[in-house]
Amino acid sequence: VQELNEEIYPVFTGPEGLEQLGQAFHRKEYHEVYVLVDEHTAEFCLPLLEAYTGPLKIIRIKSGEENKSLETCGEIWGMLLQSQADRKMLLLNLGGGVITDIGGFCAALYKRGVSFINIPTTLLAMVDASIGSKTGINFLGIKNTIGCFKSPLAVYIYTPFLETLPEREYLAAFAEICKHALVADRHYWDKLKLMHPSEDLNIDEVIDHSLKIKQQFIAADPYDNNIRKSLNFGHTIGHALEALSQKTGKNPMLHGEAVAAGMLMETYLSHRKSGLKLTVLNELIVFYKKFFSPVKLAEFSMDELLILMKNDKKNENGKICFTLLREVGDAILEQEVSPKEIKQAFEFYRHATA
Ligand SMILES: NC(=O)c1ccc[n+]([C@@H]2O[C@H](COP(=O)([O-])OP(=O)(O)OC[C@H]3O[C@@H](n4cnc5c(N)ncnc54)[C@H](O)[C@@H]3O)[C@@H](O)[C@H]2O)c1
Ligand SMILES: [Zn+2]
Repeated sequence: VQELNEEIYPVFTGPEGLEQLGQAFHRKEYHEVYVLVDEHTAEFCLPLLEAYTGPLKIIRIKSGEENKSLETCGEIWGMLLQSQADRKMLLLNLGGGVITDIGGFCAALYKRGVSFINIPTTLLAMVDASIGSKTGINFLGIKNTIGCFKSPLAVYIYTPFLETLPEREYLAAFAEICKHALVADRHYWDKLKLMHPSEDLNIDEVIDHSLKIKQQFIAADPYDNNIRKSLNFGHTIGHALEALSQKTGKNPMLHGEAVAAGMLMETYLSHRKSGLKLTVLNELIVFYKKFFSPVKLAEFSMDELLILMKNDKKNENGKICFTLLREVGDAILEQEVSPKEIKQAFEFYRHATA
């Protein structure tokens, strides 16, 4: 039995990649090319892309995590059908993680699967969402609960897209970059913890390094059955906070912001349960307070958060399992944590960020 999606796709960085893509389009190597955008990437990123590719057929959806939904898939498939897009079409996903997640998912299912290319335009999508072949949408308030593995033909990373990215998005992505360091690379963490993302970060270097870490996990475990789960650090609590903040709509959190809060609490759990040193917990507190404002936990129902955590894809048999750290660079998987301990982690967060 041959496994699906086992092919390795190229990840291009720098302008040469887009130049080559543009040349392929001009040689008409692709039959019919559509580009998926939201209102921000239509305004800020599409002109730059079309400078390389020439005019593209545009499929535009509304930005925002709340639109990573089945309804939006219906809109995308509807627009493709209306334009009589056939199986030889190519979809360019031009945007952040919402666009690459939903675009990859829609491409995977349209007429049983058409090709797509990811062109990430947020820092988070450049270091994380655009690679790894996970596609999907949120459903009934649960993050990424409907989806599939489907690889893009290629990924093109072009950092000038970041020039228009709001500072808040930049910081949120920095949390995921630090996660890569925390689960895999102690020296990288020692460097990052001293930096300010918008001042002393060499963005090309950081993207390169983070990509390498993520690619190593993907190569070792493409379908997320064991070691790749290291990358879920911060995400058990993070996803629950993100989903609930979206649902109540009061203060919707960005993915990276929720992960940052999740990492702080899961670092506490790592200290309590897995022997992670107190010095690391203190480093995380300093890091978190430098870049993020405290989440108003009073707005969240603990019971609802626990239900969301139970529904997390990482769990089996109704238990809540976490990826924790034994030390920086050394993650341990499938650690069961009780509701009582989770509540203690929230208490800790409340005090640490007060
Ligand atoms: N598939 C994966 O492996 C994976 C990994 C990590 C995250 N994700 C998913 O990614 C999503 C978060 O991604 P995100 O943080 O990129 O969010 P996003 O796609 O919502 O983008 C953030 C905002 O920035 C805007 N934007 C995008 N590029 C811009 C630019 N160059 N200039 C100005 N504005 C721009 C977007 O329109 C949006 O308003 C979540 O849904 C998360 O679940 C997926
Ligand atoms: Zn994430």
